[in-house]
Amino acid sequence: MIRIDISQIQGFISKDGIKALEPEVKESILKLENGNGAGNDFIGWMNLASKTESGLLDAIEEIAKILRDNCEVVIVAGIGGSYLGSRAVIEALSNSFTQLIQDRKNPQILFAGHNISEDYLYELTEYLKGKKFGIINISKSGTTTETALSFRLLKKQCEQQRGKDVARKVIVAITDAKRGAARVCADKEGYRSFIIPDNVGGRFSVLTPVGLLPIAVAGFDIRQLVKGAADMEALTTSKMAFADNPAAVYAAARNALYRGGKKIEILVNFQPKLHYLSEWWKQLYGESEGKENKGIFPASVDFSTDLHSMGQWIQEGERTIFETVISVDKVKHSVLVPSDEENLDGLNYMAGKHVDQVNKMAELGTQLAHVDGGVPNIRIVVPELNEYWIGQLIYMFEKGCGISGYVLGVNPFNQPGVEAYKKNMFALLGKPGYEEESKKILSRIKK
Ligand code: PA5
Repeated sequence: MIRIDISQIQGFISKDGIKALEPEVKESILKLENGNGAGNDFIGWMNLASKTESGLLDAIEEIAKILRDNCEVVIVAGIGGSYLGSRAVIEALSNSFTQLIQDRKNPQILFAGHNISEDYLYELTEYLKGKKFGIINISKSGTTTETALSFRLLKKQCEQQRGKDVARKVIVAITDAKRGAARVCADKEGYRSFIIPDNVGGRFSVLTPVGLLPIAVAGFDIRQLVKGAADMEALTTSKMAFADNPAAVYAAARNALYRGGKKIEILVNFQPKLHYLSEWWKQLYGESEGKENKGIFPASVDFSTDLHSMGQWIQEGERTIFETVISVDKVKHSVLVPSDEENLDGLNYMAGKHVDQVNKMAELGTQLAHVDGGVPNIRIVVPELNEYWIGQLIYMFEKGCGISGYVLGVNPFNQPGVEAYKKNMFALLGKPGYEEESKKILSRIKK
């Protein structure tokens, strides 16, 4: 199973730091299980995996097949929780290059609706010219500006290039059952659609069709992903002993460090494929914990790449950080360092070794150096990058997040702060209904 090693935080927390947090962690798990904590109308993610019906997976696979059979490229339009989970899993499992050059077996998956960049949209729509593409339009609220704007452009282009009938076949909506413009549009146009359960918030939705459909279209085994998550669900209940519950140990360790002044958690990987898993994790923890002037700031780095940019800061900057390293035990492929007669680069001392052995020594060397430099280290060991273990990891982080939020004393399942920028943007753009805000904001700018 996924293993959490907290041996390298011991010198940084009070002697009974973790022990002291055990009762709070247990209480938080019970609140989640009994549904009597803050935000309890959004804890549907807790047993999504174990309750996923085979019929739902059949339906997802069936629609994925339609998209796979009819599209060279599929655009996932969504933002935040409506795209980060699928992107994290697809990138973690894909060949680093065939997604770019497009392999023959699977449609290329591209993302839109997560920014408002005119250049991005121009370049995307140019790239799609002449290509057989489909769209998965994902929005729980069905009203998110970034996603709606991109979808408007892509829908028109798809209809123009492929005709209305084919477009209807290759555009799929994942949204609320009744509310929002995405639902109205899907029903009116007759798109196939999936429902995002009411009690699952965006950042906890990767194991619903939000994540599962794009992942299935990309050619990955969603049943194994769900199985991994379901197995982790069983390992993280209140029935498990604290030390055997990875989500409990992770939540306790990070909160003990936070209470000791470590305000920033840096999620570290040594596999570039995990870059988007960190992006997903940042949203999960940032949006769940950062409220009421509290919360660990979630940051991330890709090592060893960023050791050559952020390494200096981490080694010697302000001592308010700790690292959580995702360490992948077994890599997929084998590449040996070749020997070279001339040895001009001086690398013969590593000849015959696997590149991954070099990477593992970089990881260990970094851990030792950073701990010596005052940076506590939590290590999460994942056996390998496949659907099953990624499923376990996802659930472990979700559960760890719910527990951490309650230990911190916030509602981990709302995100009131996200609305502030939207209100200003709508007022500035003159959206109907924002006239008063518009007056206020314009006078503020003029001053
Ligand atoms: O976690 C959340 O709820 C948010 O980050 C949403 O996922 C994000 O804002 C997108 O919202 P929607 O799916 O309604 O378009």
